[in-house]
This record gives sequence, C-alpha cells and structure tokens, in this order.
Amino acid sequence: MSQQLNPELTTAVSASHSPNLGYHWAWTRGHLIPAALFGAATAAVALIGAPWWVWAPLAVISSWAFAGFLVMRFGVRMNQVRTLPDVTFLASGTGRVLDVGCGSGRMSISIARARPNATIVGLDDFSATYIRDHGSANTERNLRLEGLANSATVQSGDMRQMPFEDRSFDAAASSAAIDHLQPDDIRRTLSEVSRVLVPGGQFLLLVIVPNLWLTIAYGPLIWRMRPRAFWREALSEAGFVIDREGSSGTTALFLARSVQE
Ligand SMILES: C[S@@+](CC[C@H](N)C(=O)[O-])C[C@H]1O[C@@H](n2cnc3c(N)ncnc32)[C@H](O)[C@@H]1O
Repeated sequence: MSQQLNPELTTAVSASHSPNLGYHWAWTRGHLIPAALFGAATAAVALIGAPWWVWAPLAVISSWAFAGFLVMRFGVRMNQVRTLPDVTFLASGTGRVLDVGCGSGRMSISIARARPNATIVGLDDFSATYIRDHGSANTERNLRLEGLANSATVQSGDMRQMPFEDRSFDAAASSAAIDHLQPDDIRRTLSEVSRVLVPGGQFLLLVIVPNLWLTIAYGPLIWRMRPRAFWREALSEAGFVIDREGSSGTTALFLARSVQE
C-alpha cells in the first residue's frame, strides 16, 4: 500500500543523517579478502624459494581480485547516489515518475536531485538479501533525509504485476533491478512499465551487460548477464523505441519512449 512520507517523523531508524543505501560489504569490499589471502600466499611461497610457476598464478589471482575491488569501488559504486545519467530524461522537470525496483532509493534520489519538481513513486518487493535493513522503512528514511518527504512515496509490490493504473506515470526509471529477473519476467516487467506510462512517456533503463569491467569484477557470474541485443529486442517487443543508448559507469543505459497507442 502506498504511504506518503511523514515529514514529522524523526530519524528514529538510525542516528545517521546520510542515506544508507546498505549494499553489503561482501559486494563493495569482498574482493579484498581473496586479494589479501592470495597476496600473502604469493609472498610466502616466494620467500621459501619456490619456482616462479608456483607463485606467479597466485600473484595473478591476487591481482585480479584487487582489480575487481577497484572496479567495484570506483566503477560500480553501489553505495553512492550518482548524477542522473541522462540530461534529457524528464527535461520538463515535472511529472509523476516511477522508480522500478527502487531498492534503498539510489535512483529515486538521483532523479529528485536533478528534477526537484517531479514526484516519485518507488516500487520494490524488498526481497533483496544483499541490502542491509532492506524494507520500505529504510527507503523512506533515505528519501526523508534527502528532504523528499512531500514528493516521494514508497510502495511495496511486484514489478512483474504492478499495482498501478494504466497510464498513471509520466516517466519511469530503473537501475540494476530488472536485470535480476529471468527473461520471461523481464519481458513481463517491461510490458508493465509500458502499460503504466502515458503514451510517449520516457523510460530510463540501467542494466548490467557483459563487458570488460564486469568480467573483472564478477568473473564467472558474467554468463548470467544478458547482452545489449537482448534488451533492445525486449524493449521493442514491449512497445518502446530507443532514443539513446550508452553507458553509465560500468552499466548499460537505454533511454526509451513508450509508443503504445
Ligand atoms: C540491485 S537492487 C537495485 C536497487 C536500486 N534500484 C539501486 O539502483 O540501488 C535490485 C532491487 O530489485 C528488487 N526486486 C527484485 N525483484 C523484484 C520484483 N519482482 N518486484 C519488485 N522489486 C524487485 C530488490 O528487492 C532490490 O531492491
């Protein structure tokens, strides 16, 4: 059920005054563990005089893990709100915007900073286990700390079957959320986005696709990522035309527009 944020609420959830995006340390700093362990093993076997073909593979694994940490820290930047990655998104500056899979509010805050006159609805089922304190209370607190108590709401619900009327949003955005679904659910969700948008409504979609940076950071997990061609086809099937395609950091970006009648 939709809840308007109460500006009177205090920051009882936490004494901190900055948004707690809450991504687990295993994702943001976890690479440092194998980097340190394999680094120590490299030093140990080198010190006892082992041949290069013993310590070199250990050094390669340690270096790869450290490179993965750097990609997560300076490329993926999970725990940071980023600048809105497309200046043409909601250029009018006003309207009702849906954040699909809003998580702890990272994209909603980014939109609100760039478009302070927009109203935002964040939709999430809060199923993710890799976000600390994940739930509408934490997201509402983050939005409140950003001064969005009167312009942002959070709604619990499934993006595959959205609890919204047809054509009830002027624009929509989604960051690192729809790509977590299986292909049929991705198609269903994109159709839902199309259904709830007004004709011509923009959709800013950020998804992970296989690339060099994410291969370094995620290693074998890369095989689960779908290529750009998949997203182009799925957006088109759901009734979108793509106006711009690019990247935002390590993530693929599509700015699409609903062409449903
Ligand atoms: C990686 S997080 C991204 C959150 C946020 N958009 C961001 O950029 O930080 C993915 C989010 O999708 C949500 N999610 C996953 N499946 C969902 C579904 N079927 N319906 C609604 N939300 C879902 C998870 O709870 C999680 O908050």
